[in-house]
Amino acid sequence: MPKAPKINTPPPGPKAREIIEKSKKYLATTTRDFPLVITKMENDLIIDIDGNVYIDFAAGIAVANVGHRNPEVIKAVMNQLNKYVHSAPHDFFDDIQYKVAKKLVEITPGNFDKKVFFANSGTESVEAAIKLARRATGKPRFIAFIRAFHGRTMGSLSLTASKPVHQKKYYPTTPGVEHVPYAYCYRCPFKLTPDICDMWCAKYIEEILFDTYVPPDEVAAIVVEPIQGEGGYIVPPEGFIKELRRIANKYGILLIVDEVQSGFGRSGKFWAIEHFGVIPDIITAAKAIADGFPLGATIFKAELDFEESGAHSSTFGGNAISLAAALANIEYILKHKLHERAAKLGHDVLKILNDAKEEIEIIGDVRGKGFMIGIEIVKSKQSKEFYPEARNKIIEKALKKGLVLLPTGKSAIRIAPPLTIEEENLHKGLEILIDAIKQIKG
Ligand SMILES: Cc1ncc(COP(=O)(O)O)c(C=O)c1O
Repeated sequence: MPKAPKINTPPPGPKAREIIEKSKKYLATTTRDFPLVITKMENDLIIDIDGNVYIDFAAGIAVANVGHRNPEVIKAVMNQLNKYVHSAPHDFFDDIQYKVAKKLVEITPGNFDKKVFFANSGTESVEAAIKLARRATGKPRFIAFIRAFHGRTMGSLSLTASKPVHQKKYYPTTPGVEHVPYAYCYRCPFKLTPDICDMWCAKYIEEILFDTYVPPDEVAAIVVEPIQGEGGYIVPPEGFIKELRRIANKYGILLIVDEVQSGFGRSGKFWAIEHFGVIPDIITAAKAIADGFPLGATIFKAELDFEESGAHSSTFGGNAISLAAALANIEYILKHKLHERAAKLGHDVLKILNDAKEEIEIIGDVRGKGFMIGIEIVKSKQSKEFYPEARNKIIEKALKKGLVLLPTGKSAIRIAPPLTIEEENLHKGLEILIDAIKQIKG
């Protein structure tokens, strides 16, 4: 791969423009908001159709934790391709399903028997968690959080609350979900500060919700991201998730932790929940589970298992190719201790960005763990007013200089490179980013 960044013609170049125009006629409108037409990816680099080379701070939305086309993952996939591709994994058994399920059970917190349901995506892993919780408890209600993102299918969508567009015109979604504030301390919905709040946003569930209209014995589960992803890379304070666990225990409610974005070393621990000393009943996983091969997994207490055949299943979930990739991927993370690398380098990134925050008025907040770092762009430090127009311009300017970034939340930028990123590229990328922020007039 050539050195990065290398920009021949700022994107979209002529070839990119042509593909984008042609594609628009046939591809459904989703979230393709950036004029990047990719032709090759390797580790931390992206090459576009006009020959531009970019440093990747997005990792395919926190997917390529072990780097794009990690050689050990590719080798495992090639081996599996020579055996079989599709076995109808929910109808028949095979060795690879057993191996990946066992591995996931071993590496998830909780010293009790666990089982795994394989699906194809994050949203499906959440759907499976919802179904497990409904069937095992016989209860209909769920508690989720403001700014949460759990997916876009109708069950998971009912838990999602990060942007109105996600739910617009889809109402009614699955009934029975109550949304409560997340511990977003930079913008505390109760206008409190962590030193005096006594974790009121968590206590609100018990003291307001349960006391007024949600009977706790009708609640199947509390569903929470240990660090909010699409909501803005929001890290809750230490006691928040512990308080949720306490409430869940007290009322016999399950705690479902959605690690779809935060898992597989991204946060500096293998699972982000490990930062908070809490053992969930169900964990949902996808994105970085198989270095880009589609796979979702719901890892749950064995006692919650579906009690009869047919209660849930899937044609493709647990596809052999994706599972071979997953096994190699997980082994690679553990062997190279990529979570520890993310913790160390992420710490350096936080320091650099916090220094930049001191001198740049429109950086309102810098937060994160490992390589799950958010920078919130505001009109001014004092007003904290969201500034999405500036955020979008920064991402556009960075792209033109050879850095791929993604937005998150209303006004934040995420820094989520492959955990294997070359240190030189990490620093070059940060320079481009800070430079792009400085070019915006506050
Ligand atoms: C925490 C979380 N849960 C679920 C999902 C849905 O995953 P998918 O897009 O694979 O359905 C996402 C996707 O961003 C996510 O961040």
